[in-house]
Amino acid sequence: MKRILVTGGLGFIGSHTVVELQNAGFNVVIIDDLSNTTLKVLDSITEITGKKPDFYKIDLRVKDDVKNFFENNKVDGIIHFAAFKAVGESMQKPLDYYENNLSALVYLLQEMRDRNIDNFIFSSSCTVYGQADELPITEKAPVKKAESVYGNTKQIGEEIIEDASKAHGINAIALRYFNPIGAHESIKIGELPLGVPQNLIPFVTQTAAGIRKELSVFGDDYPTSDGTAVRDYIHVVDLAKAHIAALQRLINKNNKESFEFFNVGTGTGSSVLQVIKAFEKASGKPLNYKIVGRRKGDITAAYADTTIANKELNWKTEKSLDEALASAWQWQLKQ
Ligand code: UD1
Repeated sequence: MKRILVTGGLGFIGSHTVVELQNAGFNVVIIDDLSNTTLKVLDSITEITGKKPDFYKIDLRVKDDVKNFFENNKVDGIIHFAAFKAVGESMQKPLDYYENNLSALVYLLQEMRDRNIDNFIFSSSCTVYGQADELPITEKAPVKKAESVYGNTKQIGEEIIEDASKAHGINAIALRYFNPIGAHESIKIGELPLGVPQNLIPFVTQTAAGIRKELSVFGDDYPTSDGTAVRDYIHVVDLAKAHIAALQRLINKNNKESFEFFNVGTGTGSSVLQVIKAFEKASGKPLNYKIVGRRKGDITAAYADTTIANKELNWKTEKSLDEALASAWQWQLKQ
C-alpha cells in the first residue's frame, strides 16, 4: 500500500483530500503546524474513515525538522497544501508569505531529490491567470503578473517545481484551483475561517447564522449579466478527488511531461447574486446583504475550461452548486 505525505492535511482542502486518499486505499501521513486549524480535525477524519492517519506537528520552515521527518518516514508521494493563503494579509507581510510558501516547498523538493522520492502534487490557483482575456479559462491562457504576493507565491512555486522536476526527474502536477466551497457530506469536516472570513461562502453562512450583520456584495457594475463578479465554485470533495486522480496519473506514469498543470473547476461561472439566491434556496433563509463598491484587486469573471482536466485526469465534478451550498450551511449550523 502506498504511503502519501499530505502537508497541511488538517486544513480545509487538505482534510477532505486525506479522507479521499484513505477511501482510495492509500496510507496517509499528515504534516501540519496547526497555524490555521486544530487537532480536532484529525479525530474528525478518523471518525469518517475509521482509520487514523499518522500525524506530525512540524513547521516546514524548519529545515532540520523536515529532514528529520524524512529520515524516519518513507513516503511514495507528496501532496503539498501547507501555505498561507490570505490575499490581503500577503500584501502586509510579503516576506512572511515568501518564506512560508516558498522555503517549505524548496525543502520538500530537496528531500525528494536526495531520497529519490517521486510524485508531487501542488496546490496552485487560478489566480495565476489574473483576468484572462478569454473565458472559459484553458490551460493555454498566459500566466499574468500576479496582483498579490499570495498569487506570486503560487506562480513562483510552479516555476520552482518545474525547474526541479526537469533537473531531478521528479514528476509533478500543479492543480490550479478555482473557488473551493462546501463541506464533507458527514458534516464532520469543513472550512474553519479564523476571524472575519475573507471569502464569499463563509461570509454568507456566517451572515445567515447571525454572526455577521450583513454581507457586502463587492460591486454590481461589472460587465456581467447582473453586474456582480463571476467565479467558478467547486465542491471541496470534487476538488479533493482531483488530487487522487492526479496522484494516480503520476503513480501509473500516465503523465506526458515531468511537470504538468490542470485547471480544477466545474466549468460553470456563477455571479455573487446567483450564489446568494442559490444559498437562500438551499438554506431556506433570506440573506441580509447590501451592494457596496468593488474590492480592490478583484477581477470580473473567472471560470474553468475543464476539458483537459476531465480527459487527462479522467476526473469530473459530480456535485452541484446547490449541494455545495447546502453542505456549507449544514457545516455552519454545526459550529
Ligand atoms: C480569492 C483570492 C484568490 C484566492 C482565493 C482563495 C482575491 C482577490 N482573490 O479569490 O487569489 O486564490 O480567494 O480562496 O482575494 N465577495 C463579496 N463579498 C464578500 C466576499 C467576496 O461580494 O464578503 C465576492 C468577491 O468580490 C468575488 C466573489 O465574491 O467576486 C468570490 O470572492 P472570494 O471568495 O474572496 O474568492 P476570489 O476573490 O475569487
